[in-house]
Amino acid sequence: MLDLVIKNGTIVTAYETYKGDIGIKDGKIEVIASNISCCENIIIIDASGKLILPGALDVHTHLQMPFGGTVSADSYEGGTRAAACGGVTTVFDFAIQKKGKGIIETAEERKSLCEPQACVDYAFHVAITDLTDEVLDEFERAVEYGVPSFKLFMVYKKEGLMVSDGVLCKALERSKEVGSMISVHAENPDVIDERINKFLREGKKSAWYHYESRPEFVEAEADKRAIHWAKAINAPLYIVHLANKEGVEEVKRAQDEGYKIYAETCPQYLHFTNEVYKREDGRNFVCSPPIKGEESQEALWKGIDLGVISTVATDHCPFQAYEKDWGKDDFTKIPNGCMGIENMYPYLLSEANKGRLSFNKVVALCSTNPAKIFGCSSKGNIACGYDADLVIYDPEINFIVTNEKMHSDVDHTIWEGVKLNGYPIMTLLRGNVVFKDGEFLGNPGMGQFIKRDRLN
Ligand code: URP
Ligand code: ZN
Ligand code: ZN
Repeated sequence: MLDLVIKNGTIVTAYETYKGDIGIKDGKIEVIASNISCCENIIIIDASGKLILPGALDVHTHLQMPFGGTVSADSYEGGTRAAACGGVTTVFDFAIQKKGKGIIETAEERKSLCEPQACVDYAFHVAITDLTDEVLDEFERAVEYGVPSFKLFMVYKKEGLMVSDGVLCKALERSKEVGSMISVHAENPDVIDERINKFLREGKKSAWYHYESRPEFVEAEADKRAIHWAKAINAPLYIVHLANKEGVEEVKRAQDEGYKIYAETCPQYLHFTNEVYKREDGRNFVCSPPIKGEESQEALWKGIDLGVISTVATDHCPFQAYEKDWGKDDFTKIPNGCMGIENMYPYLLSEANKGRLSFNKVVALCSTNPAKIFGCSSKGNIACGYDADLVIYDPEINFIVTNEKMHSDVDHTIWEGVKLNGYPIMTLLRGNVVFKDGEFLGNPGMGQFIKRDRLN
């Protein structure tokens, strides 16, 4: 017997839109039919006039992460609670390898932090900072363990995160052999350092100079360099938080040539432009790569339209206002990162509701594509056998984002005042209602570690 039936809704997948009932049993989608008859003991949710979408997978978050001289302000609990309330049912967090530690050791350590706190399902990318021969050897075991993706930073030298091109190439080669994915944060560190020093000497210290120190061409160079190595080695590559036009063009070129180059962008790059850095609260928008100009923003939307950009994820890495204030008079002291885990799906769905793209495309970008690219075979679709991770969306609600209505641990949001057409009214995690009508109804600890498949 079924546990729960969602009736009369319009089901939206990456591929089609149709009316149907969804029957759920033991956390899985058991049946989809035009009319499921229900007996007394089955919970019924009426979704008349609403859309039913697969839960989003936010494949780029930094929860409770030591960074920028502090720790990012959302705990696993706060971040995943906010995720659930924004229709995200799986988060991928970055577990940063400490020098001398192994990959699985790194993931296990994060897992023990995450396990009691997670309100939605979770997976890890391990960020490699120390690629010894032992770590290279461990790639295969990490894939078997369920972590088939590794992140390399082409920046953050002082922070001890940056790797050289040599290391990037070694990782690409090994990754290709074992069926994993290398992702990169692409910016040119030397050019950034030179520009920062120049601006500081000139007394140019406002948030605008965060942008000026790492403008479009600084990111584009590194995108091209990473793509060059991936093509040379013929290894798959995933570029995180792509934010510039030339980068989009380079990704397209490589894809047209037949290479497996994937690009992700973030909602903050799609909605805001670098004008935000001229605002009084410009420091709150400081993230790396910085938000770019209008031309880049248009290129990102075009990249989405053409399928060059495969995913949207948040790069959720919030800091409290007092931490952002450390850089009020000196942009180099602003911890880098913005929030978005609760805003990504509602924002993109609102853009769909306004007609900018289709709802199916939003599902592809936020759910189906990330699930496929990163090996979550039970997630990212509404079909029999998939996890019942579902979002019920009311296209008629007018919603204005204010921090009071958000559910994270953070005291402000860059999305304050943004008007959305439509909003999620319910999120189900494996058949459990974790968010309803503005309220979080889940529990810390109910999120499960997702052991992912081998990629490629
Ligand atoms: O500014 C950002 N994006 N902070 C988080 C770390 C990263 O670079 O992804
Ligand atoms: Zn990054
Ligand atoms: Zn990031």
